[in-house]
Amino acid sequence: MEQPVKILGFVGSLRKGSYNKALMRAAVELVPEDAKIEVFDLEGIPLLNQDLENQPPQIVRDFKAKIRSADALLIASPEYNYSVPGVLKNAIDWASRPYGDNAFEGKPAAIMSASIGSLGGARAQYHLRQSFVFLDMYPLNRPEVMMSFAEDNVDAEGNVTNEQTKQLIRELLEALVHWTRKLKDKPQ
Ligand SMILES: Cc1cc2nc3c(=O)[nH]c(=O)nc-3n(C[C@H](O)[C@H](O)[C@H](O)COP(=O)(O)O)c2cc1C
Repeated sequence: MEQPVKILGFVGSLRKGSYNKALMRAAVELVPEDAKIEVFDLEGIPLLNQDLENQPPQIVRDFKAKIRSADALLIASPEYNYSVPGVLKNAIDWASRPYGDNAFEGKPAAIMSASIGSLGGARAQYHLRQSFVFLDMYPLNRPEVMMSFAEDNVDAEGNVTNEQTKQLIRELLEALVHWTRKLKDKPQ
């Protein structure tokens, strides 16, 4: 049997009751049998100071090591002011540095977003994809998981209750596993 695909997940919201954390929790439950998800908590990553990029804090070293040892990445994030939240952007910036030591290079990645608004965080997803170009990543195109009106689709315990969203997450994970295996099989 093939090795399970190792997926590293992280969430662009630190909020305890985060709807995006709920999406990630659902993904961990719905992951296909031939894959597993480990979640890295971005809490505690300090603000990037380029003076320190050659001696990054331990949490950044750990984050980069986890990214490197993963076969694929799964990001769940809110949209802040029509873009990527600082928490997530800051973590990505750290892990992309110093120049020439970008941990994201060549990584397949899938994105999910949740918002209390009607567009489900779509604009943050497209801004994230713009960064993926420079980071030389391989984002999955479809399905797009954008949970709008999140408060109506997550219960008080932080479980995603919307069956359609759960089905989309299942499909996203299956597609990510397929995409990751396809890229691994690609002749160099
Ligand atoms: C600083 C800030 C900016 C926000 N900007 C947007 C936005 O541009 N679009 C949007 O749909 N929601 C926006 N929201 C609302 C978020 O969708 C909502 O707070 C959501 O619950 C955040 O995700 P979380 O539940 O994972 O923390 C914003 C919230 C904050 C705190």
